Amino acid sequence: MKILLTGGAGFIGSHTAVELINNGYEPVIIDDFRNSKSFILKNIEIVTGKKIISYAEDLGNTAKLREIIEKEKPLGVIHFAADKAVNESVLNPIKYYKNNVVNLIKLVEIIDEYNIKSFVFSSSCTVYGTPDHTPVSEESDIKPAFSPYGFTKQVGEQILVDYFKNKNKACLTILRYFNPIGAHPSALLGELPIGVPSNLIPFITQSAIGKRGPLTVHGNDYSTPDGTCIRDYIHVVDLATAHVLALKKQTKPNRIYNVGVGKGFSVLEVLKSFEKVNSLKVNFQFGPRRSGDIPEIYANNNLIKKELAWSPKYSLENCLEHSWFWEQNLENF
Ligand code: WQD
Repeated sequence: MKILLTGGAGFIGSHTAVELINNGYEPVIIDDFRNSKSFILKNIEIVTGKKIISYAEDLGNTAKLREIIEKEKPLGVIHFAADKAVNESVLNPIKYYKNNVVNLIKLVEIIDEYNIKSFVFSSSCTVYGTPDHTPVSEESDIKPAFSPYGFTKQVGEQILVDYFKNKNKACLTILRYFNPIGAHPSALLGELPIGVPSNLIPFITQSAIGKRGPLTVHGNDYSTPDGTCIRDYIHVVDLATAHVLALKKQTKPNRIYNVGVGKGFSVLEVLKSFEKVNSLKVNFQFGPRRSGDIPEIYANNNLIKKELAWSPKYSLENCLEHSWFWEQNLENF
């Protein structure tokens, strides 16, 4: 069964391609490689021992997209392709609306033409804005988005819910990611930040290996136990597995799931854990708060556990160990 993975050479997409193959699916990757490199495709083949079907194309090229769907006839789509840097979206909102909203609409028009009935959408806990309570459940209020990136995820969800509402026998599953981190245990797949990483873990690993200076902890005066922000860090392989289960168990038309481990860790707790598990020291300094950051968010993941029988297998320590192995191995590619 072929599944089209838009953005399938990216961080989450590549790990999902591996788990799909491990579960008997055949991923078809379409990626413009703005957030990836071609060696990732080769490494997916090394990890799985299977040949990968892939197309280096811009999702906005609808003629090409039609050609690919005509040829491959995928039965489902997992839509990863999107820009995802909160701060960049503030500086360049149109780039985000074009890629994350206009291209989504073009994709939906084409899946409608080809009557593709199974769709999994990569969303984000960012849609909750600043929650009144944590942990957040799928019924928690959706607050005004904090950034154009967050707004594109809110709009993307609404577009898909409205479209699939009238599509009989079709299934939409929306997965709201918390903070994806870690890397494949083989150290052949992982995060490939372009330029200076905005996310915490890649900055820590690049600082630890000497590619960057000290980590700046963005604010230590939040109303949290140690003053630094709290997040729900989930191993990328656990997140990938959630996509496979979402496809396998698509029985209801529109389902939304939080995909997080259900526990929050502060920036300082993550830093200390990284140092302990990898037996090294990371230089850091406290800096001012980063605009757009919220003090605390982590998942109530009861729904995905109940309905998809999903549960995280990796601990925070596993994530931080795998991230470090990946950073060390990167120089070989
Ligand atoms: C985590 C914490 C920072 C870097 C974003 C998106 C989310 C998802 C993941 C796509 C925060 C602190 C970070 C640094 C720091 N994206 N930090 N120094 O902002 O929670 O989530 O990325 O799926 O949708 O919103 O992740 O890793 O950037 O930050 O102190 O150099 O680490 O302030 O508290 P974030 P992050």
